[in-house]
Amino acid sequence: MTILQTHDLKKQYGSGETAVHALAGIDLSVEKGEFVAVVGTSGSGKSTLLHMLGGLDRPTSGSVTVDGRDIFSLKDEELTIFRRRKIGFVFQNYNLVPVLNVYENIVLPIQLDGRAIDKAHIDSIIETLGLQTKLSNLPNNLSGGQQQRVAIARALASKPAIILADEPTGNLDSRTSQDVLSLMKVSGQKYAQTIVMITHNEEIAQLADRIVRIEDGRIVSGRQTHTASASGSVSGGQTARRAGTAEERQV
Ligand SMILES: Nc1ncnc2c1ncn2[C@@H]1O[C@H](COP(=O)(O)OP(=O)(O)OP(=O)(O)O)[C@@H](O)[C@H]1O
Ligand SMILES: [Mg+2]
Repeated sequence: MTILQTHDLKKQYGSGETAVHALAGIDLSVEKGEFVAVVGTSGSGKSTLLHMLGGLDRPTSGSVTVDGRDIFSLKDEELTIFRRRKIGFVFQNYNLVPVLNVYENIVLPIQLDGRAIDKAHIDSIIETLGLQTKLSNLPNNLSGGQQQRVAIARALASKPAIILADEPTGNLDSRTSQDVLSLMKVSGQKYAQTIVMITHNEEIAQLADRIVRIEDGRIVSGRQTHTASASGSVSGGQTARRAGTAEERQV
């Protein structure tokens, strides 16, 4: 069953000579329960695509269908509720709420939705991510890697049907990256979650069911499930290595 689908998705920033065609017609479909890695050079449009998939920003044209619903036909308020119920988003720059402590950040989406907190579930995420001693810290008292782990905990806390993660391991050492990845995979299997993850890490990409490669706002391989590109390599690490850390790429 297809849970996520885009049709000729385009996003242009600016206009005239300075226009940037961040997405130049993306057709992508993702099956329920699938774990998809998105790779591509810096500036190729990966984050823009993920934001559109999560309904965080509206496209210039084209559509995104989530669980049979054309999400951009929803009004802003409806879209916000839909997103909160269905999607867990790990942002490239974390987007933690600075005035809330770690625990409050993690449970915020659940509370905003008026749902009960599954304490055992939250405790197990916190423990796996090694955040037990940081729960009362404010985000700006944490390292980049710790903030990233809080962002991951927040995305998993509400057991969303779809997890959209923008380089969730970009700031983590290789062992913690492996822990995060196995946490996401276990969670994915337990709750039948669909995962779309941007990564520059070749080893992590290889663990996905499928690798979607983006160049200049277009998918160049891995558009559909079970295409030959799933076995394609990550260009000998060229994509990954050139781009540096998440912070470096953002400047
Ligand atoms: N808000 C914006 N306004 C103008 N241009 C933007 C905006 N956001 C992204 N872009 C441009 O759109 C293109 C795609 O950006 P995007 O952030 O999607 O790349 P990316 O593949 O996620 O890169 P990275 O690996 O560095 O995170 C880039 O040329 C970028 O400069
Ligand atoms: Mg990005």
